[in-house]
Amino acid sequence: MLKIKNLVKNYGTFRAVDNLNLELKKGDIYGFVGPNGAGKTTTMRIIATLLEATSGTVMVDGINVAEHPVRVRGKIGYMPDFFGVYDNLKVDEYMDFYGSCYGLSRAERSKRTDELLELVDLRDKKGNYVDTLSRGMKQRLCLARSLIHNPELLILDEPASGMDPRARIEMKGILKTLKEMDKTILISSHILHELAELCTSIGIIERGKLVYSGELQDIMRRITGKTILEITVLDNTDKAVNLLREQPLVKHISGEDNTLEVSFSGNDQDMANLLKLLINQGIPVLTFAREAGSLEEVFMEVTNNVD
Ligand SMILES: Nc1ncnc2c1ncn2[C@@H]1O[C@H](COP(=O)(O)OP(=O)(O)OP(=O)(O)O)[C@@H](O)[C@H]1O
Ligand SMILES: [Mg+2]
Repeated sequence: MLKIKNLVKNYGTFRAVDNLNLELKKGDIYGFVGPNGAGKTTTMRIIATLLEATSGTVMVDGINVAEHPVRVRGKIGYMPDFFGVYDNLKVDEYMDFYGSCYGLSRAERSKRTDELLELVDLRDKKGNYVDTLSRGMKQRLCLARSLIHNPELLILDEPASGMDPRARIEMKGILKTLKEMDKTILISSHILHELAELCTSIGIIERGKLVYSGELQDIMRRITGKTILEITVLDNTDKAVNLLREQPLVKHISGEDNTLEVSFSGNDQDMANLLKLLINQGIPVLTFAREAGSLEEVFMEVTNNVD
């Protein structure tokens, strides 16, 4: 659905995107993660036909973005990282305006507007002025707008930035719905764990280079070679430690009192087997989880190791 080959973008002498290669199949949800200035927005704007590449090719569903921008625009929905100013425009008028830009008939525009405002939970705001919406609502409206022509590929540039926790969860729900509709999605964020549960694959971009790309668990294992497990037990801590030490996949154990930090080099099945073993041996396990912070550590590790 999306094929990026040797993409380069220079701003004067500064190289913002450096020989980037990326491929998304239909139905993929690809998380584009990287620090400020990494080149996420630049890459997305090139795909969205709003910016010209210095060299390299971008194909959307087999169509070259640079050669046929108008055809590509019909296939993609782009949600930028900012929301413009719209004086004296109501929510439904705003949707209608974008619908007419894509050549939808009046009846289609009205139908799509209702469906999409329902999807992003803004039906009650239909008659309100766009400028009076909260920031989170504007972002949801922006997402609805990017879907007006029912595009196959969605390019979402930090759709959840600046949202409160509740709005973030709602945004995730909307994205899950889009995933079920079999859309292909490229989504950027600074926050790795925000994308983790949603995405089929993750790419980490740093100074214009895609430094890692693949399934998140694979990336974690490739970088650290291990998973950090946090295990808490009710009692029998010493027995648990001894048992864990005997396991070849357990590389290191630390921790205090009844909470153990275990560095583990196995896969998900091995993790499940380890839990079963502890329980079978009579260890009262209270919690057994992959340490949440380790995702952020991976990100720090990756983005610090690039020259
Ligand atoms: N129009 C421009 N002219 C010159 N340099 C630019 C321009 N647009 C972006 N850059 C530079 O290109 C680099 C990549 O910027 P980009 O906006 O793509 O990063 P990003 O990954 O989206 O960052 P953020 O997480 O802050 O949104 C930055 O160093 C930025 O300063
Ligand atoms: Mg950006």
